[in-house]
Amino acid sequence: MAEDVKYGLAGVLADDTAVSKVMPETNSLTYRGYAVQDLATRCRFEETAYLIWNGELPTQSQLDALNAHEKRERGLSNDLIEVMRKFPKDAHPMATLRTAVSFLGLEDKEIDDHATDRLFERAISLYAKIPQIVATDFRLRNGKDPIAPDHDLGFSENFFHMCFGEIPAEEVIKCFDISMTLYAEHSFNASTFTARVIASSLSGIFSAVTGAIGSLKGPLHGGANEAVMHMLKEVGSPDNARDWMLDALATKKKIMGFGHRVYRSGDSRVPTMTAAYKDMVDIINTEDAKKYWEISRILDETMVGEKKIYPNLDFPAGPAYYLMGFEIPMFTPIFVMSRITGWTAHIMEQLADNKLIRPLSNYTGVGQRDVPEIEKR
Ligand code: COA
Repeated sequence: MAEDVKYGLAGVLADDTAVSKVMPETNSLTYRGYAVQDLATRCRFEETAYLIWNGELPTQSQLDALNAHEKRERGLSNDLIEVMRKFPKDAHPMATLRTAVSFLGLEDKEIDDHATDRLFERAISLYAKIPQIVATDFRLRNGKDPIAPDHDLGFSENFFHMCFGEIPAEEVIKCFDISMTLYAEHSFNASTFTARVIASSLSGIFSAVTGAIGSLKGPLHGGANEAVMHMLKEVGSPDNARDWMLDALATKKKIMGFGHRVYRSGDSRVPTMTAAYKDMVDIINTEDAKKYWEISRILDETMVGEKKIYPNLDFPAGPAYYLMGFEIPMFTPIFVMSRITGWTAHIMEQLADNKLIRPLSNYTGVGQRDVPEIEKR
């Protein structure tokens, strides 16, 4: 290990950004200066999307214009839907989403136009189309026909409509909408940095977003909300939860949905998400909803009590998505529906003052040598 190498780029300031600020000392996060928990409770996700792209919260007419633009961009080509019908039914939804977004790039006739206004149009187009890709994939893999978007519905309601053909209770929509705001942006995480690296070679916004989806797919990054739900199912019942956790800690298991590289004593997004999850549980009020809430509560209490390791956003988001009716492998694609706003804001920021990202490496291979003739090797 060389002393001057920053393995994993840990602690490296790689560039400037005005999009979001992570503050480890207070375990908090702001988007364009606003605390994320305030945005989640006071604004709809559409307002947060506008803020992330434009730097200011929208007026009513600016919001109306964004929403009208997003609705115009909804709709997938018949070609894309036909290609999606041929996707293997057992492929992970993150892999099908990655391929579908790459296909959108094939359909874009002006893919090499990096002007900011053209990038912005594509950002809105991706924000409008990705939910339909996720919903279409969900329906096709379950042997059902896709449902067209409903232009009378907002972002979150329309997603439920395209998945299930109906819209759930207000508290469920609110919980989903809050999760969209909380997942939208998180500075130079692995997928956002991937997007900026690809954008920096002027490869185009679709390449950058396709690469970012590939990065987010990994279990060390975006996959934790899925892993949390598998864990809650394995625990099975509230009576089992405390002993399960004590046993897992005794055998040094990594508990999914706990801990964070940056936030060491709690994550400011968690109380807002947990409160929305609880409101939704109270409204749904099924045995399953009450059971998973109780298991989550006991696991949280035990982990914090025993280890002082706090839950991250994935801990309440995983079971919340499950109780909304989504299949577990859809959780990370749902995260993409939100994070597309942050990724595209970073791609635009990178390209507005671009410098090719090309770090150096510390060579550890053999020294320079002559190429021998083949019979002498
Ligand atoms: N379960 C059990 N122990 C944990 C833990 C967890 N989820 N997270 C941290 N720890 C323990 C570590 O084992 C370590 O203990 P030790 O000092 O006895 O070896 C200690 O807490 C410090 O953790 P550290 O390994 O320095 O944290 P990190 O910064 O490397 O890891 C994560 C951060 C997020 C990768 C890690 O907490 C983790 O894997 N969490 C589960 C996956 C997850 O929820 N990911 C989503 C992140 S948003």
